[in-house]
Amino acid sequence: CFSPDLLSLYDLQGRVAVIVDVLRATSTIVTALAAGVTEVFPTATLEECAALGREHGYITAAERDGIAAAGFDLGNSPFGFLDGKLPVRGRALAISTTNGTLALRRSLAAEAVVCGAFLNLKAVVDFAVAQQRDVLVVCAGWKGQFCLEDSLFGGALAERLAAQGFDITASDAALAALHLWQHAKPTWPHYLLQSAAVRRLNALEAHDDFTYCMQIDTHPDLLPLWQTDSLVRG
Ligand code: MLT
Repeated sequence: CFSPDLLSLYDLQGRVAVIVDVLRATSTIVTALAAGVTEVFPTATLEECAALGREHGYITAAERDGIAAAGFDLGNSPFGFLDGKLPVRGRALAISTTNGTLALRRSLAAEAVVCGAFLNLKAVVDFAVAQQRDVLVVCAGWKGQFCLEDSLFGGALAERLAAQGFDITASDAALAALHLWQHAKPTWPHYLLQSAAVRRLNALEAHDDFTYCMQIDTHPDLLPLWQTDSLVRG
């Protein structure tokens, strides 16, 4: 599913939904849980995010149009959880982003909902193999539009699942994503340098976020898994 706006065309029932916002929401969520955040509450609105901070003392992280939203502890950079400026270990996180957290909230009817990023590709593959269910990759995209980096993650996942015996020919979208990934892989991640997301990050002087998020399998066992009302380590 190349955009959350196309979700109504897909059946979520009985499927594993892999929510992908490589730049940067799902990469940041993986990083936050790896840094010791106990659970993650993704919210659609900034108001809900702020309320969770106010009422429960959660860390708040919020971004709109790539820029950290005013009045929150952090923006959407994974480095917010790595630079040691804010103590994060043992605390819960409320996070609201332009596309990623919205895509997640729209996918909750699936049998299982997990977050995927290049950082934890292996964890997503292992979960899908263990579940033996159809997988729907929900690309967060950008304001309803197709984006390269999430689609490329879909292709990388399709490649690994095909190697595990999954039939990826059932979907032209999966085949297209796979072919795109096979084209990009030999020069990874340079293929993405011209993409809109990378240009956006560069304009915000956040090129390091791009380099960080394109690493593959740095967190091979870390799976953000939806349980009841938040994401926890699966
Ligand atoms: C989003 O959810 O739209 C993003 O992750 C945007 C960003 O962090 O630049």
